[in-house]
Amino acid sequence: MAKRRLPKPVWLAVKAGNEKGLTPADNVRAFDELGFSPTIFNRPTSFDMSTSIMGTKIDFPVIVSPVGAQAIHPGGEVAAASAAARQGTAMGLSSWATDPLTDLLKVNQDIFFQLYWVGSKADIEKRVMDAKEQGAKGLIVTLDWSHTPRRDWGVPPAPPSNMGLKTMASFAPAAIARPRWLSEFLIRGRIPDVKVPNLWGRDKNDVPYFGAAWGEFERTPAPTWDDIKWIRELWGGPFMVKGINTIKDAKLAVDLGADAISISNHGGNNIDGSPSPLRYLPYIVDAVGDQVDVMADGGIRRGSDVVKAVALGAKAVFIGRAYLYGLAVSGEAGVYEVLDILKNGIRETLYGIGKASIHDLTKDDLMVLNQGFFVPPTQ
Ligand SMILES: Cc1cc2nc3c(=O)[nH]c(=O)nc-3n(C[C@H](O)[C@H](O)[C@H](O)COP(=O)(O)O)c2cc1C
Repeated sequence: MAKRRLPKPVWLAVKAGNEKGLTPADNVRAFDELGFSPTIFNRPTSFDMSTSIMGTKIDFPVIVSPVGAQAIHPGGEVAAASAAARQGTAMGLSSWATDPLTDLLKVNQDIFFQLYWVGSKADIEKRVMDAKEQGAKGLIVTLDWSHTPRRDWGVPPAPPSNMGLKTMASFAPAAIARPRWLSEFLIRGRIPDVKVPNLWGRDKNDVPYFGAAWGEFERTPAPTWDDIKWIRELWGGPFMVKGINTIKDAKLAVDLGADAISISNHGGNNIDGSPSPLRYLPYIVDAVGDQVDVMADGGIRRGSDVVKAVALGAKAVFIGRAYLYGLAVSGEAGVYEVLDILKNGIRETLYGIGKASIHDLTKDDLMVLNQGFFVPPTQ
């Protein structure tokens, strides 16, 4: 439905991976390679799906991931945050979001502010401390974006400075072909994809255009481990590093004092060919799971996917595209519906395998579907 609703360039920007798209495909496939053994006796009648991440309690182990959701729906990040609150969960707010943190906190108290390294350390310090003062529950530092423009997928480049006439003209035919999408914006008096209020400059009134902030992002050198240690200490509160793919990096995140990590390949937008986080999740959990909350993300589309990740040791998962598709189709109601599908899917899977609590899940609840044959269950 999202594909039918969105103008083609916007749809591609949501769907895209890098290069051949090996990684987003593996993110989904890895879940399909795992199965469950259904049980029939003594099935549970009630279910405990609640957990916490960085001290924030959530009703089920799914958090709305930070994404730069420009141009998908005029409801924007506020719509997603409100749906998440109504379903009892938290959200990460992207640096590239089109709604300011202030507006999200009015509808959901459990917002983690996501930081990209854009601009001088003084600018970064100002934005981060402001987010803390406003009441963000935690800081997520995302370190895995490789800045590739995804041109192989036909994704349009970021507008140079603003939605100038030239950019609007080139985008117009695709937008006009989706009148319903366009009218939703026009009714609310919003223009898609213009400003990024969480990347403000001198002060909070100095809100840059997407393209200008993008240019600054590309000019800013990637942060070192010492930079991240600096921001961790400055922040002082709950702190997550997102984009971990190796045991070595997981241990370095622990060393700098992270409270949580997310094993992630940015939904396939980092190096194409890197495998699904699910494949190394159990090893990273073995290495650092007793010291930090371990999350994972990438390819989660079903409640049963969530159960598989939790059985392999994730405390909770992030979802990206799944909720973007819902947002595209019907704003807040669409995100609410997606979270409902996932919540019910988790409950039904727990029922099917006879587990009353997500906290009782272990690797033994899973089996590897090996080339079409079941590997015998261990118990
Ligand atoms: C269109 C798009 C934009 C994204 N923007 C951000 C972002 O601004 N910050 C961030 O930390 N991750 C970003 N991500 C990565 C997501 O937070 C998440 O890791 C990923 O979407 C999970 O994979 P999934 O889409 O298969 O669920 C983005 C992902 C997509 C698809």
